[in-house]
Amino acid sequence: MSTTRRLLITAGPTHEPIDPVRYLGNRSSGKLGIALAEAGQAAGWEIRLLMGPTETEMAAGLDVRRFVSTADLAGLLDEHLPWCDALIMTAAVADYRPKQRSAVKLPRSAGLTLELEPTEDLVAACVKRKRSDQIIIGFALEEPDQLEDRARRKMRRKALDAIVANPLVTMGADTIDAQVLTPDEQHLRPGAMPKPQFATWLVDWIGHHDFQSK
Ligand code: CTP
Repeated sequence: MSTTRRLLITAGPTHEPIDPVRYLGNRSSGKLGIALAEAGQAAGWEIRLLMGPTETEMAAGLDVRRFVSTADLAGLLDEHLPWCDALIMTAAVADYRPKQRSAVKLPRSAGLTLELEPTEDLVAACVKRKRSDQIIIGFALEEPDQLEDRARRKMRRKALDAIVANPLVTMGADTIDAQVLTPDEQHLRPGAMPKPQFATWLVDWIGHHDFQSK
């Protein structure tokens, strides 16, 4: 896929509001997504980074658009998906969100029972509406003993062009020991390394891999 030059990356957690001051979130740092954006830029790709609510530092000069909730990210993907040749979905999108958001701060003394509803599967929705020349790569964070099996099933369920499977310890860490799986049964294990080094490796792989003649 040597013609690919526009890379859209999502990174970081989502925060799902409970009331004006509280939210449900997760521990994603966005480090890998930022590293991918920096590696892509260094390799001469055009980059847009859709970035969740984290304080993680990144290089100056990146084209960054911010989201907070899953709903915000859905809106940004509507806007930017048509622009890209490849989408890399590293964002740790919440699986559930509070069914209702209180407009006023809830008092502690009242106690709180939250009713949660599942969020929309954003990457699966992107796959359904993408052009045939676009590729979409997902990520999976799994228990180490079920990593390959669960990631492969997730790739098929969401009809992804590839999935990057990581053990749970990857979240928030500086290093990564990922496996890359493809629908045509490729299985790559580049080994444990710092996230920036893995990002350079993955961007290079995406640039050279034949995504079934796309
Ligand atoms: N993802 C998404 N929208 C969601 C949840 C996940 O787009 N609501 C994307 C993630 O960005 C990632 C991929 O789907 O690229 C896999 O995320 P994961 O949370 O592992 O998948 P789930 O479908 O939520 O499966 P599980 O039941 O294992 O949580």
